[in-house]
Amino acid sequence: MIDTSEVLITHEQIQEMLDRLAAELNRDYAGRPLVVVGILTGAFIFCSDLVRRLEMPVIVDFMQVSSYVGEISTGNLKIKKDMSYDIAGKDVLIVEDIIDTGRTLALLKEQLLKRGPASLKICTAFDKPDRRVTELVPDYNGITIPDKFIVGYGLDLDGEYRNYDDIRVVKQE
Ligand code: IMP
Ligand code: MG
Repeated sequence: MIDTSEVLITHEQIQEMLDRLAAELNRDYAGRPLVVVGILTGAFIFCSDLVRRLEMPVIVDFMQVSSYVGEISTGNLKIKKDMSYDIAGKDVLIVEDIIDTGRTLALLKEQLLKRGPASLKICTAFDKPDRRVTELVPDYNGITIPDKFIVGYGLDLDGEYRNYDDIRVVKQE
């Protein structure tokens, strides 16, 4: 049985987090056009909430990626959907739902840097640093959470619970 009754982060705390992150981004990129790349599917809500608070000229695009660990390699990236915009020479911000081991974003960052952006930064809604196996540190972090599996606000368990407007902890019995 799956129990999602425990609220870890309320809707109000999420709004405060969005306001804080947008203020940081509006300060750091003031007057500079920004290409925002949301990572599907988990970041679709965070990305849409965040871009509506941004004041610089913004282009929004999306990618869908997954990482897997092979037998001999440390990790591979599978691009299921690439963005359609050419980021060469542009300021780019990757918008992710949550960083766990950091494998996905470490590999994605490596790939995107080959496309020659002027700058490439990472903004995550949630961060689970206890589980990190890479050096990856987000440039912008919403809320740091303990080593628990969370759902809601775009995050899923087998595709479910993305529609919750707060963050819940998953308990499986
Ligand atoms: P990483 O490569 O281990 O950092 O993987 C991060 C990805 O795993 C995220 O983009 C999520 O799709 C997924 N993920 C990690 N932790 C959670 C969680 O607590 N809830 C839902 N998805 C998670
Ligand atoms: Mg994801």
